[in-house]
Amino acid sequence: MLPKTPLIIDCDPGIDDAVALLLALASDEFEILGITTVAGNVTVETTQTNARCICELGGKPDVKVFAGCPRPMLREPIVADHVHGANGLAGVTFPEPQMPLQGQHGVDFMIEALVNTTDKIAIATLGPLTNLAIALIKAPHIVDSIDRVVMMGGALGAGNVTSSAEFNLYADPHAAQVVFQAGADQDLDLTLITLDVTHQALATPERRAALAALDNDVGTTVAQMLGNYGVREQQEMRFAGPPLHDPCVIAYLLKPELFEVQRCFAAVETQSALTQGRVAVDRTGESGQPANVAIAQSIDADGFYALLTERLAKL
Ligand code: BDR
Ligand code: CA
Repeated sequence: MLPKTPLIIDCDPGIDDAVALLLALASDEFEILGITTVAGNVTVETTQTNARCICELGGKPDVKVFAGCPRPMLREPIVADHVHGANGLAGVTFPEPQMPLQGQHGVDFMIEALVNTTDKIAIATLGPLTNLAIALIKAPHIVDSIDRVVMMGGALGAGNVTSSAEFNLYADPHAAQVVFQAGADQDLDLTLITLDVTHQALATPERRAALAALDNDVGTTVAQMLGNYGVREQQEMRFAGPPLHDPCVIAYLLKPELFEVQRCFAAVETQSALTQGRVAVDRTGESGQPANVAIAQSIDADGFYALLTERLAKL
């Protein structure tokens, strides 16, 4: 058996975060060291509760869940409850989780895990980058123990919060820039999956039907949540179903061959009100700055849904 990849998942569940967590929980390739949550789609109080509900739904109540930062570094907090519902999970109700919330702060857990590890740890970020940025500021040497960071965030084309910006980078642009800077200054291995790619991974009615047909509660619950996810966005964008942004991160860790990536230099706009949260990309090398991030360019969407469906069937 191949050695498992030690993994920390930082997230703000969130419907697509929930599906990403289930995909990770179903995948034996990972040793999930902990799930940290952050304020994003909904408050951190709700994201940590939702993460525990999802671990229990996936039959993995022993996974450790930690609450992280309750607000972004500098900007005023925003939420996306109009996309994810007031409870962050499309209004689908879950039993009160029985598994405990860990007492340690999510940022301190991340640092402690990275300081004490003998193997390098991968980090998946599915929400605003506040927790990772604060960890990097508090303990910069942890980069030596990070295998890679795979992030969902940013838009090269149109954003989904403003014309320029995608939610995760808009919600905490300063944190995002701290992480991108660590890619430039400390060789932190970064991969970014932007909206341009996640908008290719649509949960069409056929793909949702395949999930609903799984012989377990997970399939039924996921199909129920996806039926009520980002309905306004789908109409405005004329999408055939909701984009599954965050599960793309876990899929990338499992099967990078489903994606094409390009390495380049990128930075996050923090100043201008008009473009705050925009990821500015130098594709040609004109800035003279060495590449600090691999940016996904495309996804094999059928391969992605085949992987997701096959894995969720195991829960
Ligand atoms: C990202 O924002 C959130 O609403 C989703 O969970 C995803 O992480 C997409 O822009
Ligand atoms: Ca998210």
